[in-house]
Formats: sequence, C-alpha cells, structure tokens
Amino acid sequence: MARVPTGISGFDELIEGGFIENDVILLTGGPGAGKSTFGSQYLYAGIMNYNEPGVYVTFEETPARIMRNMWRHGWDMERLIKENKLRIIRVDPIAYDRYIMRSMETGQQGDHENATLETVLKQIYASVTEIDAKRLFIDSLTSLKISPDPVHVRHIVLEFIKNIESFDCTTLITSEINKDPENFSVEEYLAEGVICLKVFRIDGERIRSLEILKMRGVKHDEVLRPYVISDKGIIVYSDHSVIGKEADVFSLQRCSILGEED
Ligand SMILES: Nc1ncnc2c1ncn2[C@@H]1O[C@H](COP(=O)(O)OP(=O)(O)OP(=O)(O)O)[C@@H](O)[C@H]1O
Ligand SMILES: [Mg+2]
Repeated sequence: MARVPTGISGFDELIEGGFIENDVILLTGGPGAGKSTFGSQYLYAGIMNYNEPGVYVTFEETPARIMRNMWRHGWDMERLIKENKLRIIRVDPIAYDRYIMRSMETGQQGDHENATLETVLKQIYASVTEIDAKRLFIDSLTSLKISPDPVHVRHIVLEFIKNIESFDCTTLITSEINKDPENFSVEEYLAEGVICLKVFRIDGERIRSLEILKMRGVKHDEVLRPYVISDKGIIVYSDHSVIGKEADVFSLQRCSILGEED
C-alpha cells in the first residue's frame, strides 16, 4: 500500500510512515489546538518534499488570513499558488447557511441542501483537477453541519465524505472537538483515520497532546504524545508520552527547548 508521509516532524513514525494513499482522515480538536496549522503543514510538506500539489478548502478563515498566519511559520503559500502547486478555495459559509435556512423554511430540505453540497463539491473537484492535486485539506467539516436536524446532518456528512473519497486525493478533514466523548459523531465512524488534538492542563502547565484514535489498516501508535506549535510548525514528540504507563508527565518547557533546537 502506498503511503503518504505527512511531513509533520515526529508524526509519521506513529503511523508506519504516513497515511494510506487516498484515505480520508479526520483531525479533531478544540479552538487553537493547531488543526489549521497541521493541515497547512501537510499540504506545504507535500509540495516541497514530495512534489504533490495540494488544495486547501476553507469555510471560515479567508485565504489572505491563512497565508498571513502560515507565513509566520515560514511557509510562502502565495508563491506556491503562483506556481500552480497550491489552491486555496473559500466556501462562503454565509451563502451556505442561507441555503440551508431557506430550504428549512420552504420544507424542501433535500433539494436545496443537495444543490449547495453539489456546488461545494464541484468547486473542490475543479481545483483538484486543475492542478492535479494529490493532497486535500478541508477546514472544517463542522461548518457543513449547520442543520438542527441530526438526520439531515448525518445525510450531509455521509454525502460529503462519500464524494471526497472518489477524488483520488489523500484527504485531511478537520472537525471541531466532540464535546460528548460517549457519543462519537458520524464522521468519526466514516473516516479511515481519526487524529485527536487535545489541550489540557497538568499542575497549571498547558499541555498539547495528540492521540491516534484509529487508522484503519495501520499498526498505529496508541499513546498520548506531546506536541508543540513552533515557528517551524507542529513538532510531535513521538518518544515521549503525556500520561504513559509510568505516568511520565512531559514538561512543556522541555518541548519548547527541543523545538528551538530543531
Ligand atoms: N509561531 C508560533 N509559535 C508558537 N505557537 C504558535 C505559533 N503560531 C501559532 N501558534 C499557536 O497556534 C495556535 C493556532 O493554531 P491553529 O490556528 O492551527 O489552531 P486551530 O485548531 O485551527 O484553531 P481554530 O479552531 O480556532 O481554527 C495559536 O493559538 C497559537 O497558540
Ligand atoms: Mg483553524
């Protein structure tokens, strides 16, 4: 099976070298956890290290803001767009929202919702074929789940992931953190893999940690690993555990020092 290395320092060794080609992987996490950084780094490394063009789909942030934030890590996304190696497409969440609301008012849910979803998917596919993208990053799926009806939401998510799977791209999709750990969301079942970014405090110290919840067909790591967001992007400490068998509490200070040395 061909593997797609993410290029994220310390991460690929946790999943036997990379994602399985053409899989759809979910990346979950709360605000500021580093989801957009992870995805941008995945696309950037794909272009720079593996010569694989990528498409970034944003529902919330504007492309200008994404480029500005990523510039902070030294990633010149503007140049890659000019070189036709990268596309950043923005799906207008307000227009999408309006469609859903209107469809609910008129009671014609299916038609309007499908029209919108179809438009979004066509827009993504056009960019994928335009630059022959191999990597796709979608930020975030939560933006699509705006209907109050859970059956409706399930239908949207199913339809979206099913279509994305046919794009011949290895896809990373973000999803906001699942507040109810007892009830997993539909996308967590549907995706081939789920990576969770968790931020919590131990003794007043802020700890960022990553867990691979699942990765079908992969003998993946099962330990909670610390990571940092540095000037060079995300660095995962694959040899350390946050709370391991030996209750090895990782020091964030140490992470910062290691990050600077890299
Ligand atoms: N150069 C840097 N060095 C250290 N930390 C940084 C740096 N740049 C950004 N960060 C951290 O990364 C966080 C933002 O990460 P990112 O935007 O990827 O999170 P996110 O999970 O996408 O958040 P949201 O859910 O709000 O979209 C900032 O809040 C900050 O803590
Ligand atoms: Mg984000």
